[in-house]
Amino acid sequence: MKILLTGGAGYIGSHTCIELIESGYEVVIADDFSNSSMAVLKRIKEITGVEPTLYNIDVADIASLDELFAKEKIDAVIHFAGFKAVGESCEKPTMYYRNNIDTTLSLLECMEKYNVKRFVFSSSATVYGNADRVEYVEDMPTNAVNPYGRTKMFIEHILMDASCADKELSVVLLRYFNPIGAHESGLIGDNPNGIPNNLMPYITQVAVGKRERLSVFGNDYPTPDGTGVRDYIHVCDLAAGHVAALRYSEKNRGCEAFNLGTGVGYSVMDIVKTFERVNNVKIPYVVTPRRDGDLPEYYANPAKALNVLGWKTEKTLEDMCADSWRWQMKNPNGYTEE
Ligand SMILES: NC(=O)c1ccc[n+]([C@@H]2O[C@H](COP(=O)([O-])OP(=O)(O)OC[C@H]3O[C@@H](n4cnc5c(N)ncnc54)[C@H](O)[C@@H]3O)[C@@H](O)[C@H]2O)c1
Repeated sequence: MKILLTGGAGYIGSHTCIELIESGYEVVIADDFSNSSMAVLKRIKEITGVEPTLYNIDVADIASLDELFAKEKIDAVIHFAGFKAVGESCEKPTMYYRNNIDTTLSLLECMEKYNVKRFVFSSSATVYGNADRVEYVEDMPTNAVNPYGRTKMFIEHILMDASCADKELSVVLLRYFNPIGAHESGLIGDNPNGIPNNLMPYITQVAVGKRERLSVFGNDYPTPDGTGVRDYIHVCDLAAGHVAALRYSEKNRGCEAFNLGTGVGYSVMDIVKTFERVNNVKIPYVVTPRRDGDLPEYYANPAKALNVLGWKTEKTLEDMCADSWRWQMKNPNGYTEE
């Protein structure tokens, strides 16, 4: 069975690629390397023995995508390609709407033309927005509060409409919580450009000496230690969630959303302290004012993914910290040296 991974060279896509190959799937990657490195392909081969077929294309470009679909007999699509930084999306909303929505529309058009009926989408917990509870369940209303989150929310609606119109279509919306960690080989991991937007790559860059200290945005939230609480999920657990979603889409039609998280919230200070303990390094930090738009606390209710997909997380916070650090130590400058 041949699976198209758009954005398959990125952080989550590359880990999912490994999980798919190891589960016996054939993988085709479409990526324009706007936020990733070609070196990933060799690393995937080092880990799995298989180098996936690559199309270096902009997935929004319908002509290039059509060529791919004409050449490859694609059975299902997992759509990771997109821009993902909340702050940047506030500065460049048009760029975010253009890329995230156009890539999805081009895929839907090609899937219709080539009779591909299975679509797994990288959605996000950001679709819930400013909810009135901290444990998110899938049937809560979506109410994204920034342009990035709204691209995900609008795409979910586009995909629901597509599945209403075509009763053979199977769409799985995977709402990720906060992916961290790396493949245990230390060969692939999160490789952000410039200053990291997310906590874990910032911590690992401080630990490796690339940045002086971590900024903790606010310690006066109504949480146990005052710092923000999130549901961190190991990227390999997340990758396994995609295999479960693909299996589900073989047998089910319609459009379903699933939270992919652990169900447990950890604070920024929990992460810093666990990272220090597990890896025996010091993370100097300074408390700075809250960041605009950050919520105090939220985490997943992952029961639906367990009951329907048969999926749950296996890795601990200690695993997440150890694996993130191994990746960073082995690759202090990411993939750039290749
Ligand atoms: N990492 C997170 O915290 C997180 C959380 C929730 C949801 N998501 C979503 O999961 C998906 C993957 O995230 P990631 O962390 O792996 O990001 P990433 O930036 O590492 O991967 C995205 C990949 O898509 C590629 N890409 C972007 N636009 C493209 C286009 N037009 N054509 C071809 N390739 C294109 C990039 O080069 C990159 O390789 C994204 O859609 C993101 O919004 C990520």
